Amino acid sequence: MGEQLGTVIAGEESPSTSEFSFVVKGGVVRKGQYVQLKHGDGSMFGFVSEVYKANRYYERAESVAEFERGSGGGMSSQFPSDSWEYVIAVVKVLGVFSGKRFERAFSPPSPGAAVHDAERGVLRSFLGFEDAGLHLGSIEHHDVPARISMTRLLQKHLAILAMSGAGKSHLAGVLLEELLSRRKEDGRVAVVVVDIHGEYGGFAHDPVFGRQTTVIEGGDIAIPLRKIHPEAIMEWLPHLSAPQRDVLRHCLSALREEKKGAAGYSFKELMAAVDAADVSKDDVKRALKRSLSELKRYRFLSRKTENPKLAAQVRPGGLLILDFSPIDSLRKKQILVSLMARRLLSLRKKGKIPPFMLLIEEAHNFAREKAEESEAVSRAIIETIAREGRKFGASLCLISQRPVNLSTTALSQCNTHIILRVTNPNDLDHIQMSSEGIDARVAKSITSLKVGEAIVVGEAVNYPVFISVRDRKSEKREKGAPLHMQAIAFEEKQEKNAKNAEAFL
Ligand SMILES: Nc1ncnc2c1ncn2[C@@H]1O[C@H](COP(=O)(O)OP(=O)(O)OP(=O)(O)O)[C@@H](O)[C@H]1O
Ligand SMILES: [Mg+2]
Repeated sequence: MGEQLGTVIAGEESPSTSEFSFVVKGGVVRKGQYVQLKHGDGSMFGFVSEVYKANRYYERAESVAEFERGSGGGMSSQFPSDSWEYVIAVVKVLGVFSGKRFERAFSPPSPGAAVHDAERGVLRSFLGFEDAGLHLGSIEHHDVPARISMTRLLQKHLAILAMSGAGKSHLAGVLLEELLSRRKEDGRVAVVVVDIHGEYGGFAHDPVFGRQTTVIEGGDIAIPLRKIHPEAIMEWLPHLSAPQRDVLRHCLSALREEKKGAAGYSFKELMAAVDAADVSKDDVKRALKRSLSELKRYRFLSRKTENPKLAAQVRPGGLLILDFSPIDSLRKKQILVSLMARRLLSLRKKGKIPPFMLLIEEAHNFAREKAEESEAVSRAIIETIAREGRKFGASLCLISQRPVNLSTTALSQCNTHIILRVTNPNDLDHIQMSSEGIDARVAKSITSLKVGEAIVVGEAVNYPVFISVRDRKSEKREKGAPLHMQAIAFEEKQEKNAKNAEAFL
């Protein structure tokens, strides 16, 4: 065991099996520190949930006021009050480690028992870290790296939740670095990132990770029409009436049959097929064509171009970034997310791509809790992966600064939550409701987290654990340069253009 920190004291309701207090012997005990004490044949572990100071000389307001008013120079000059100050730490009991197994505590520690700083090696296994785990940061107050098992973290999905600017994307970047650095023998997954703000492009230029990274611009995404399941189109166009759906289904299957040998068919041919369909009502066809023309406008349905070629470009230990930053339309982004997620799941089910993690930034925009049908195009597939993905090695990492708006089905299937700073009470309530293991005390500390500090709860760890997220190894691309830098860059560019124009004349 580590250094002795103090001695368990007896209070009205403590020590109990869930909580005890100890008086600090000397030195510093910090909130959040892990402690250990001998318990039967094993060790009891706990977590300092609060530290406070007491001094009996200052307990009575009237005597303090009296002495401070007097001419004697106050309490401390008349009494040895300084040496009566003591520090009490309140510990939340986490469990007992009996050599091999971790168990709940069935009996309290004894008053008078010596409390020690937690031993590093045991603490690591107590919290559930693994040597070959993903190194996301370190636990506060202890020199213990937070190495979290990849399987425990990802297999049952991960949600990263926090307010804007708290460090979600930074953490996601650290996670990607760790996933890209894994060795074959430890198991490597493929990573696909839906990059809404173009923040992950740095990986492509990085000397270490560049070779493993492919960036596809959202506007260049293309998929042959023949590879699209009719049901997917129906989902993208939820307002189609039953007769319109019938016509569409009929046209698509007719085209498929007719163009079997050919290299596919274009949107134009689909429109022509709708025109030629044997339907008496013209307005059905007209309305269907109008709806289809929205998809045409988004220009991602092709005759044979396919980009990215998922079956070839989703590789173990590889990173595929879908850069959506140039796309303005939210609907187009949703349709593309739906398309990519569907293809990934279906290829994975067929074993054509390795196990993967699909990371979605701003996930509340793609799996909205309360959304009109037309805004919910990608929700169904995300919920499907959330429910069924674990069986196939299809994992989600959902990132959101508006957890209240995120589908509860999807969120509740994310068995690990990493939560960074959150101050909005609505979001906090929602997180508390949807994350097992967050009690009122932990919830309160979420509001006082600093940027880069996080709490990990759920499947990936044995107990909720606070970590400081480590620095990035690879180049960071900030979402926007500081305002004054943008202003300087703009003027410099204008001056340069003016000079060039002069030189030309
Ligand atoms: N652990 C950390 N160490 C050092 N810097 C950090 C850390 N976490 C975040 N930062 C910095 O804080 C800033 C905000 O972080 P980040 O962009 O990751 O926030 P975010 O939660 O993704 O915000 P948004 O919701 O706006 O996307 C960035 O400049 C980032 O570099
Ligand atoms: Mg971000």
